[in-house]
Amino acid sequence: MLTIDSINFNGKRALIRVDFNVPLDKKTFAVTDATRIKAALPTIKKVLADGGSVVLMSHLGRPLKKLKEDGTVDYYKHSLKHALGTLAELLNQEVKFAEDCASEAAFAQSASLQAGEVLLLENLRFYKEEEKGDVAFAEKLAKHGDVYVNDAFGSAHRAHASTTIVANYFSRENKVFGYLMASEVANAERVVKNAEKPFTAILGGAKVSDKILIIENLLNIADNILIGGGMAYTFFKALGGNIGSSLCEEDRLEHAQKLLDMAAAKGVKILLPIDSIVADKFAADAQTNTENSNAISNGWMGLDISEKAVAAFSEVILNSKTILWNGPMGVFEMEAFQKGTVAIAQAVAAATAKGAFSLVGGGDSVAAVNQFGLADKVSYVSTGGGALLEYFEGKELPGVKALL
Ligand code: 3PG
Ligand code: MG
Repeated sequence: MLTIDSINFNGKRALIRVDFNVPLDKKTFAVTDATRIKAALPTIKKVLADGGSVVLMSHLGRPLKKLKEDGTVDYYKHSLKHALGTLAELLNQEVKFAEDCASEAAFAQSASLQAGEVLLLENLRFYKEEEKGDVAFAEKLAKHGDVYVNDAFGSAHRAHASTTIVANYFSRENKVFGYLMASEVANAERVVKNAEKPFTAILGGAKVSDKILIIENLLNIADNILIGGGMAYTFFKALGGNIGSSLCEEDRLEHAQKLLDMAAAKGVKILLPIDSIVADKFAADAQTNTENSNAISNGWMGLDISEKAVAAFSEVILNSKTILWNGPMGVFEMEAFQKGTVAIAQAVAAATAKGAFSLVGGGDSVAAVNQFGLADKVSYVSTGGGALLEYFEGKELPGVKALL
């Protein structure tokens, strides 16, 4: 694989696919978390420092799927213009904006860029051709640059025109990974291919169904799998426990049991949270109590892992040399149910301080380490959500494959 370091961009235009699919404030449309924009800066700066110019392209949201009430596309809400100010501020220079990504006007703008200038194109997903991976559309996008740089790890699981197909229109030496993409892939590979043992995966989140494929694949490489969050209760129910009104995917009970059987057969330890903080309703001001997770009172629901679970999970984490964490242990957005996730984040940080390699990925677990101020105490925080999950499911990412 070629990285951006193989090219001197002097006098060249780099067409960089970034993932600026960032959260925006619902009222002001200001960027509320610029992590993904910051993560793309080293790549942009390298091109500019070489004496090149930069054309940035990205999607934002799902404009053709999330329509307005009257059934029309909300172009304003999904405009990448909302990211322009943040980008210019972080780059500390003016950034030009093209109102479209494939019009004659946009091509004229990219063609007239001078060395050192940056142009951001409007949301790629205003075109249905983008998600379809349309070849004619990809060929048009390719006109914006001499070199194609893919730095959008967060979108690498999409075989879209700008993430994958566009690469067909550049010669082998002129399509490369940006710095972010290269480090995301290197860190994920370190866990999948070279994990120092013991390797512990911590999985959380609401649904078992989202995590079945990753658990199946991790059974081939992990020593321990710690399961927290809402998905744990489907396992307890499958084992014959009482889970009160905790989350449960009835149609996954058999599969949950099958995963436990597979783990036993492969000698992988799956740890479920022994006890839970239970609540009488799904609300920040609910009454709470601690109960064993397999004996929850009727009408109560598990919303976080409790002390015994934290102790058991932390011990495994502290004895691990490689740690992958995807998904929170409870409803950490509510203060009453964040202790478990905080404690696990602290255990991951402590293990890292002792020399373990820790990779945290997936929107919610990343939000958690950021919120608790522990992001710089883990080895690597991924910008990928779905992309990282698919990578750990053992799938080849089309955005990565296109550049190999
Ligand atoms: C993400 O945030 O998951 C990526 O930017 C990809 O977006 P998508 O899930 O809408 O394809
Ligand atoms: Mg996604």
